[in-house]
Amino acid sequence: MTQSATSSDRIGQAPGVPPPERLREASWGTIRKLFALEPGSIHLNTGTIGAMPHAVLDTNDRVTREWNGSMRDVYPPGMYTEHRAAIGRSFGVDEDEMVICHNATEGVARIIHGLDLHDGDEVVTTTHECYSVLSNFNLVRNRHGLTIRTITLPTGYHVRAGDILELFERAITPRTKVLAFAAITLFTGTRLPLRRLCELAQRHGLITIVDGALLPGMLNCNLRATGVDFLSGSGSKFQCGPLGTGLIYLRNKIFPEYNSLPLPTFWPVISTWYPMIGSTPPRTRTGVASYNIGDYVQSAGSASIARGAALAKACELWDLIGRDRIERRIMNLAEYARQRLVEAFGESALFSPGSDPALRSPLIAFNPFRDAADAWNIKKYMAFVDRLESEHRIWTRWTEFDVPGSPHQHFAARVCTHIFNTFDEIDHAVKVMVRLAADMS
Ligand SMILES: Cc1ncc(COP(=O)(O)O)c(C=O)c1O
Repeated sequence: MTQSATSSDRIGQAPGVPPPERLREASWGTIRKLFALEPGSIHLNTGTIGAMPHAVLDTNDRVTREWNGSMRDVYPPGMYTEHRAAIGRSFGVDEDEMVICHNATEGVARIIHGLDLHDGDEVVTTTHECYSVLSNFNLVRNRHGLTIRTITLPTGYHVRAGDILELFERAITPRTKVLAFAAITLFTGTRLPLRRLCELAQRHGLITIVDGALLPGMLNCNLRATGVDFLSGSGSKFQCGPLGTGLIYLRNKIFPEYNSLPLPTFWPVISTWYPMIGSTPPRTRTGVASYNIGDYVQSAGSASIARGAALAKACELWDLIGRDRIERRIMNLAEYARQRLVEAFGESALFSPGSDPALRSPLIAFNPFRDAADAWNIKKYMAFVDRLESEHRIWTRWTEFDVPGSPHQHFAARVCTHIFNTFDEIDHAVKVMVRLAADMS
């Protein structure tokens, strides 16, 4: 019996689904069949929760049963050693730098509270961060006297990466210790220039924390090459693992070509591996780890063995299909959706970037209503999203965010594209949204 995600878990067993070794060449129509999608509905809300493939559901169920009431030692499989090594490889990093956690919120909280931050230190971040990031920094402000300097990111079709870099650079002061930002923001779907922001941070000797909740399963990304110090990711969004799964990446050795700064002091809060007497070894100054920091964070009592195995199965599927291919497919669908939304509502209705390809992501936020002032009307957005769901079985969401120079929070409708979506679904959804918005305008 094993907790590992065996390749027998229904990949290739459903009718019309190819064996694992043929997934790399499989058509997107065939790959759609891997997913347990609700028939008759259009899922355009992967930024909140993805759809699990059948093989992932099966792994979760099988491993749950295997360990149910077991007399065996449940602690070793909870270290997820093999899964962390395999998932790490998919993101260009090693097992000692990868942790399976419970979601992006837990991941980022463990990163923020693990840093050595003191009264007078500053973090530069944005008002477009998830509550999970801003509330944890606020806690550190109240507890330890951290100063938080927030940038309000520009919104709209014509935002350029250079504008964003400049805002970050201007906000850095001699007291800044940390630069924290989302890889892809959840409100406007702005893909921040990850490598360039990490380079900026390094020029100023800063620690980088990236909220990468939306990154796993969307981007084909070598985390080491980004130079980031810490990143948390969700397992249940674009990666399509079970709810209650996430990833943490922690830089644990130094590759000067990506980030030559010393490894930051890090306190692994919530750990049953941290020594009960004494402390951890000094951190390495080379490309060879002085200890496995991932183990310190991973070891935190009994673990969700089945969910970890199911997340590993989702990652294995992604590797078989090809993460490069997946990113291209997601972005092809996103470009199509962006173009259709511009045709339907006009460029000025978009809060997401469009003209700078570096900033585009598959999350697109827009105002579907005729009156631009409706962007302040939460009730309209709630009704729009509810009616799409209840009357048309189209799943989207609304978001809220600050806009530079505006006293009001703005609201937007948001759609996301993923590999299981189709061009026809996008056409249908846009047509329905045009009619519904006209009816509500
Ligand atoms: C950018 C971003 N960060 C963090 C989160 C929180 O993710 P989780 O539910 O995995 O904790 C979300 C959720 O939508 C998100 O989009």
